[in-house]
Amino acid sequence: MKITNCASFGALALSLASADAASSSYNARTFSSVSPSASDIAKQASNATTNHRTSNVQGAAARALTIIWLENTDYQKAALDENLMWLAAQGITLDNYWALTHPSEPNYLASVGGDYFALDDDRFISMPANVSTVVDLLDTKNISWAEYQEHLPYSGFNGFNYSNQETFANDYVRKHNPLALYDSVNTNPDRSANIKNFTMFYNDLNSSSLPQYSIITPNMTNDAHDTTIKVAGQWARNFLEPLLSNEYFMNDSLVLLTFDENETYSVKNKVFTILLGGAIPEHLRGTSDSTYYDHYSQLSSVEANWNLPSLGRHDVDANVFQIIANATNITNQEVDTTYKINNATYVGYLLDTDIALPAPNVTAINKNGKGVLKDIVSVWSSEYSAQSSATYFTSTTTTQSSVSLTDLATLVTANANASSIQTSTASGSHGNSSTSASKGNSSTSVSHGGAGAVEITWTSLVALMIGSIFA
Ligand SMILES: *[C@@H]1O[C@H](CO)[C@@H](O)[C@H](O)[C@H]1NC(C)=O
Ligand SMILES: *[C@@H]1O[C@H](CO)[C@@H](O)[C@H](O)[C@H]1NC(C)=O
Ligand SMILES: *[C@@H]1O[C@H](CO)[C@@H](O)[C@H](O)[C@H]1NC(C)=O
Ligand SMILES: *[C@@H]1O[C@H](CO)[C@@H](O)[C@H](O)[C@H]1NC(C)=O
Ligand SMILES: *[C@@H]1O[C@H](CO)[C@@H](O)[C@H](O)[C@H]1NC(C)=O
Ligand SMILES: *[C@@H]1O[C@H](CO)[C@@H](O)[C@H](O)[C@H]1NC(C)=O
Ligand SMILES: *[C@@H]1O[C@H](CO)[C@@H](O)[C@H](O)[C@H]1NC(C)=O
Ligand SMILES: *[C@@H]1O[C@H](CO)[C@@H](O)[C@H](O)[C@H]1NC(C)=O
Ligand SMILES: *[C@@H]1O[C@H](CO)[C@@H](O)[C@H](O)[C@H]1NC(C)=O
Ligand SMILES: *[C@@H]1O[C@H](CO)[C@@H](O)[C@H](O)[C@H]1NC(C)=O
Ligand SMILES: *[C@@H]1O[C@H](CO)[C@@H](O)[C@H](O)[C@H]1NC(C)=O
Ligand SMILES: *[C@@H]1O[C@H](CO)[C@@H](O)[C@H](O)[C@H]1NC(C)=O
Repeated sequence: MKITNCASFGALALSLASADAASSSYNARTFSSVSPSASDIAKQASNATTNHRTSNVQGAAARALTIIWLENTDYQKAALDENLMWLAAQGITLDNYWALTHPSEPNYLASVGGDYFALDDDRFISMPANVSTVVDLLDTKNISWAEYQEHLPYSGFNGFNYSNQETFANDYVRKHNPLALYDSVNTNPDRSANIKNFTMFYNDLNSSSLPQYSIITPNMTNDAHDTTIKVAGQWARNFLEPLLSNEYFMNDSLVLLTFDENETYSVKNKVFTILLGGAIPEHLRGTSDSTYYDHYSQLSSVEANWNLPSLGRHDVDANVFQIIANATNITNQEVDTTYKINNATYVGYLLDTDIALPAPNVTAINKNGKGVLKDIVSVWSSEYSAQSSATYFTSTTTTQSSVSLTDLATLVTANANASSIQTSTASGSHGNSSTSASKGNSSTSVSHGGAGAVEITWTSLVALMIGSIFA
């Protein structure tokens, strides 16, 4: 972050500038990508271990939740696909379900971790081990979980891609593998052994050992990424139709079929989504539900269904799928989407190396009334206090009477060469939005005016300062 206009900023600007004044603007964090050769992959494959775990922990509305991801298709296009229409008739269409941003990877990242940490591309990333995911929550009750990634060459593979070995066309890609993006999973051999391929799906199905929570990612051909919605619709129907008449699979199950993002960046990032499975009562099949949901609802719904603690991030206040909300007496919130687009990132950790990893809100209470996972609280409490300490920020800004938050945002953004700026500084509840737990920052109240390529939020500013001070 280059701060050029220090003088007018007094102490605050000095602290920002002294941290890393010489570095250039917007250094994205870099990670070493893992790109083994085909022969290394073959060697590792023969040695890979695969878990086949199942369990039967009571859920409020469902015994199992399976999440299936398709790619990059605008809502209307998907809604008109004949095979997706056929599937929609077997379940509930969630016609107000939103992706969070663009492009793909941040959407997958956020769906299991409760934030996309300002990622705005598809590069190789791996979130530090102290960032928790849904599996830390599931593990508190030994609820079995797994991922099924089509053509993953072996269980636990952490490479960037595994292409078709004859044509070298895109096949398996890590950017569509949500849990692999976290050190807390990919450096843990036992957890990695839950990340498997479609062969293992059929193995587990045939042996009645499917996990209670699973994520399914078809390859780049079948998910529409490199093809069309017609291919993806056909794949989805071929995959699901037999399952929908499989008694074991259907038993009290929910299946969420969704898209990572809309295709056209300039339109609202709403995605066609269907909820199916044996847990859907007959009379609701073929209906639609216009409750506001987004990818964070995947997390809040898991928490509510199994009464789990939270991650203290955007999972905390995300609406819960109505069938689970009904079973747990949770009231969902209406969300005004008039100005919502969800097509831009915010300024944060993965966009700018000067910004600290945002602390979760360790005091948050989720929709099912639970606090944050104990281990998260113990790791993050002091960082949370530091980041949410209004004292530092308030005293700085109030003593610098000529400096408003908007000025700061303007300065920061100007230095980032962002083409236009948005601030979310208008409300009085800054204390409440100073950590990543406040959804408003990055997805709910985003894009007033609708034009920003980069959004500056209170979170980013506070995190920026903390990062600068303690760097
Ligand atoms: C195979 O796995 C074992 C145990 O995990 C490990 O010690 C060994 O180094 C692995 N071999 C290869 C070729 O990776
Ligand atoms: C993307 O989603 C929006 C919001 O639902 C929808 O209106 C639009 O049709 C989709 N995009 C396009 C280009 O159709
Ligand atoms: C989860 O499984 C582990 C190992 O099998 C066991 O020690 C632990 O008590 C279980 N926890 C719960 C909450 O069932
Ligand atoms: C699936 O994973 C298994 C277990 O690691 C591996 O042996 C197998 O070759 C993989 N199958 C495909 C089709 O990639
Ligand atoms: C990964 O993708 C690159 C670029 O397409 C390709 O050259 C490479 O062979 C792929 N790696 C594997 C293991 O398939
Ligand atoms: C993706 O998987 C399908 C089978 O489900 C296969 O026919 C197709 O060739 C795969 N795509 C690539 C690029 O290998
Ligand atoms: C699963 O069972 C089906 C038939 O019931 C069979 O065609 C298929 O090969 C089996 N798959 C695996 C991986 O065991
Ligand atoms: C987001 O959508 C707005 C309104 O259509 C458009 O002006 C803007 O360029 C889009 N931003 C990105 C990053 O695509
Ligand atoms: C939830 O409950 C309401 C009110 O009883 C009912 O109208 C609605 O159909 C239920 N929705 C689901 C998905 O169960
Ligand atoms: C939900 O509310 C109803 C009516 O007040 C009550 O009978 C039921 O026990 C509640 N269920 C849960 C899971 O709290
Ligand atoms: C954290 O969550 C608590 C409880 O919901 C809330 O009162 C507080 O405003 C939140 N703090 C921040 C900084 O968002
Ligand atoms: C989390 O891990 C990152 C990377 O190792 C580290 O920089 C950061 O200080 C840690 N934060 C906390 C609260 O442990």
